[in-house]
Parts: sequence; C-alpha cells; structure tokens
Amino acid sequence: MKNKIKFLAMFLCVITLFSLFAAGCSFSSTKKIGVSMPSKNLQRWNQDGENIKIQLQAKGYEVNLQFSNDDIGEQIEQIDSMIEDGCKVLVIAAIDGPALKDVLKKAADKKIKIISYDRLILDIPDIDYYVTFNNFDVGVLQGEYIEKALDLKNGAGPFNIEIFAGSPNDNNAIFYYNGAMSVLQPYIDSGKLVVRSGEKDYDTTAILNWVSESAQQRMSKLLNAHYSGGTKLHAILSPNDSLAIGIIWALRAVGYGKDGKDFPILTGQDCDKENVTAMLNGEQSMSVFKDTRTLAARTVEMIDDIIVRKTADTNDSKTYHNGVKIVPTYICTPISTDKENYRQVLIHSGYYKESDFQ
Ligand code: BGC
Repeated sequence: MKNKIKFLAMFLCVITLFSLFAAGCSFSSTKKIGVSMPSKNLQRWNQDGENIKIQLQAKGYEVNLQFSNDDIGEQIEQIDSMIEDGCKVLVIAAIDGPALKDVLKKAADKKIKIISYDRLILDIPDIDYYVTFNNFDVGVLQGEYIEKALDLKNGAGPFNIEIFAGSPNDNNAIFYYNGAMSVLQPYIDSGKLVVRSGEKDYDTTAILNWVSESAQQRMSKLLNAHYSGGTKLHAILSPNDSLAIGIIWALRAVGYGKDGKDFPILTGQDCDKENVTAMLNGEQSMSVFKDTRTLAARTVEMIDDIIVRKTADTNDSKTYHNGVKIVPTYICTPISTDKENYRQVLIHSGYYKESDFQ
C-alpha cells in the first residue's frame, strides 16, 4: 500500500513538472506576433497597428509591427523577416493579397497561423482567419445616408449623383460598392438619381490604391465635363475618406463652399480627423466609423485563442470565400457618423478629443 502511494505521488510529481515545463516552453516559444500594415499614409492604419501592438503587449506578447509604404515588394520582405524572426501568428492587412502567395506558403509550412486583417487575402489557401467590419454594410450605410438626405424614399428627385469606388486590388472595395448600390441602383433605374457622366459600374469608377489625388483628378474631369454652367451636382458616393478628401479638393477648386454654393452630399469611411473636420465645416456629410480599437481587441482575442486553445471563435462561416476556400471570419459592426452624432460616437467613446477639431 505504502509503495502504491509513493508511486502515485511520484507519478503526480512527474506529470506536474512535465505540464509546467510544457507550459513554459509553449509560452516562451509562442510569444512573438508579426503585424503587417499596408502603409503609414492613412491615419487608420497607424491606429490599427498601434492598437494591436499595445493590446498584445498588455497580454505579454512581443510584437513585430511593420508598415509597408503601399509597396507590395516591401510588404513581402517584411513578412519574410517576421517569419525569420520566429513569429507564431501573422496579422496582415494586405496591399495586394494574391502577391503574398509564396511568402505565406513559407509561413504556413512553418505552421505559422495567418490572420487576414480588415482586407480579405484572395486566392491563397493558407489563410486561417479573417477579422473585419461588415464591409457590405459599410456601403449600405453610405447608400442609405444619400437616400435619406435626398428624401428619395418619399419620391423626391430627380437628383444628380456621381459614383466612386475603391481600389480594385482591395477585396473590400467591391463589398462597399455592392452595399451602396444595393440601395442606390433602384433609384438610378427609376430615374430619381441621374449619373450624368454615365460612369457607374465598378471598373470605371474604381480608384487604384485609394489615392486622394486620383480621386481629385477624376472629380475635376467630371465637374468640367458635366457640371459647368450651373448644373447642380447633388450627391457623390465616395467609399472612403481618402477619396472624399480628393473629391473635396476638386469641389473647392471650382468654388463649392463659396458664395452660397453648398457642397453636395458626400460620403466617406474611417472618420479620419481631417474628414471629421470637413464634416464639421460642411464639406463632407458623413463617414462610416470603424473603431480600430474594436478590431484590434477582436484580433488580439483571436491570437490569444489560437495560441492557447489552438482555435479561435468566429461569427461568420459563409460570407467570405477567398477564391480557394471560405475563410472563418469575425465581423464587427460599422457606425454611420455625421455632424449630429459625432460627439456621441467619436468623443464620448474616447476615440478623439473635442480639441482635435478646434
Ligand atoms: C479599408 C478602409 C480604408 C481603405 C484605404 C480598405 O481596405 O477597409 O477602411 O479606407 O482600405 O486604405
């Protein structure tokens, strides 16, 4: 009997030591996380990167955070260096997803988990998870804002509108476009919305790499060709804030905002500081707020789950097919923001300070 107890005690001791050792090993070898953001040019990616970094560090992870200057080659090199650096999970907001095929294959071969961040990485089987905001709904919110501002539901019109779409190498852009057009297309079909340029399909309205100057150029061309001589432009669908800024530059240049010439209804996305200022000045009507703290928190939770439980919770397993497979996704909710609710959404939530806009 005594021997039996001795044996049992020793056995328990060995098991405990083994588990402690295993836990110690897995902690020290799973601590580093690679975070690859597309650029520093846009306020949001800086905030995304910083928020993920701060929240991961608070949980004891080491973070290798890099920004790639909207340069595909640079992003590939940076991801490669994260793999060499021993990162166990990669969080990637891709500039051009399919271009990452080889480097992500290398990561997957090393059993590194890959989270597609905000933008879905297409055509690559090695993507484990996707975390994003409801991209279709972003477009719906923009379309609905225009619908309400012009009172289209009650039969008002016809009104002139011009359409802009996002970057064709970013899978989100088609979701934004489809979401917005799901609201606007019926009014275009019934003649209550008129696109004088005739340019309304995705390919002709897309702006490569979301560049403000390219949006400015296209808007200037449209204004010259179709809205000189007093023809009023009532609304512009812009899928995000960087394009909205370029559109505002073009509108200002032909006198909008002066001598009683009001800006058209103009949508956006991201609630960048410059655009919130434009909203308060009456140059931009709304922006869709995607709280980068929420997306970061969800991503950090996902990483922690992957490391600790080897699997992460998701809330959508059917929408996001990347051309090779459906990628399990966690979707967060975007918020329509304008002059009326910006205090509640952006200031009271602690995202910005009132002094940011004075
Ligand atoms: C993001 C937007 C952003 C755009 C330009 C999209 O993928 O979802 O929030 O405005 O890229 O960077």
